[in-house]
Amino acid sequence: MLFPRFAVIAATAIGFAGSAKAAPVTAASLAVRATLCASPSGDAGTYSQPCDTYAQTINCPNGIRNATAGVVLLVHGTGSTGPETWDNGPYIQLLPNAGPGFDVCKITLPGRSLGDVQTTSEYVAFAIQQLAAQSQTGKVGIVSHSQGGLNVQWALDFWPSYRPLVSAFVALAGDFHGTGEGPPACLVLDATTGGCDPSVIQQSVGSNFLNALNSRGGVALVPTTSIYTIFDDVIQPELIPATSLLSGATNVRLQDYCGPGYLVDHFVIPFASFAYAVAVDALTRQSTAQPDSVPKTSCAWLLDDVLLNNFQRGPTILREAVTDASAVITGPKVLEEPPLKPYVCARGDATTGCA
Ligand SMILES: *[C@@H]1O[C@H](CO)[C@@H](O)[C@H](O)[C@H]1NC(C)=O
Repeated sequence: MLFPRFAVIAATAIGFAGSAKAAPVTAASLAVRATLCASPSGDAGTYSQPCDTYAQTINCPNGIRNATAGVVLLVHGTGSTGPETWDNGPYIQLLPNAGPGFDVCKITLPGRSLGDVQTTSEYVAFAIQQLAAQSQTGKVGIVSHSQGGLNVQWALDFWPSYRPLVSAFVALAGDFHGTGEGPPACLVLDATTGGCDPSVIQQSVGSNFLNALNSRGGVALVPTTSIYTIFDDVIQPELIPATSLLSGATNVRLQDYCGPGYLVDHFVIPFASFAYAVAVDALTRQSTAQPDSVPKTSCAWLLDDVLLNNFQRGPTILREAVTDASAVITGPKVLEEPPLKPYVCARGDATTGCA
């Protein structure tokens, strides 16, 4: 099941476009500056919100029950929410009871992750340390989709003291080197809605954000497994060189294991059975996956009754694709990439694009 390329989805969803509204500056929003969440000393990354603001975005549907293999944090991508990406899929439905057992938590990033990726990454950084402290293993496993992988990588890059708190990081369709579809999507959006979403600009190949990240964070910073598909219709290229290829990670191109007919696209990958099996392998090992050890029978997702019947895969995925695209159309727009935060430039990771 393939979907039209993202720009086409975006163009057809233009009818949903609305006007952007900036958040009002209130007395409350000024008062919080006195109580901003504190980073560990020595970490460059700084928080712009109180700790409570971050804590409220974390949801663990079954609570934290001291599962043997610890806590797993799920991080959604652009245009989505935690429930929309994960609730009907295997990471919420099956993972708690997989292998030795996991406590599974998801985060919902503000503004459907359309705003400044530096800011949404603060939420991920906070969640890593918060959940590691509550985890039976003292560490968290992480599964991300799409931009979620960049959020995780940014958090680990600028909050290095959190790296030892991550046992395994599994990125599904992570655009670590940006997407070539960002610039054309922004051209369409600039022309039709008067600007582009900050996070779409930042994920576009050559952005200041990506250059800053890749100055140090272009390699695996924790045990990382990057799973991707050649049929990705949102992040490109995924052939040569694939944007999901991360140096130092275990990189898993699904078609190398399941054959060229494994028609998984960007929106299907959170539901793809082989990707899930590889993720469980990594999370169970609390390290990188060993994909050759994962049975090829896991490729047969069309034959998998659980996936087919319980997750109502088709409607869920189609709704997700349309919702994400609509959100990209209607989200707040800017004409230029957000400036890099002062901590990025102060650490010497960028000299252009600084605030
Ligand atoms: C988990 O372990 C902690 C610390 O040992 C304990 O306080 C808590 O009650 C346990 N929670 C459950 C649900 O067993």
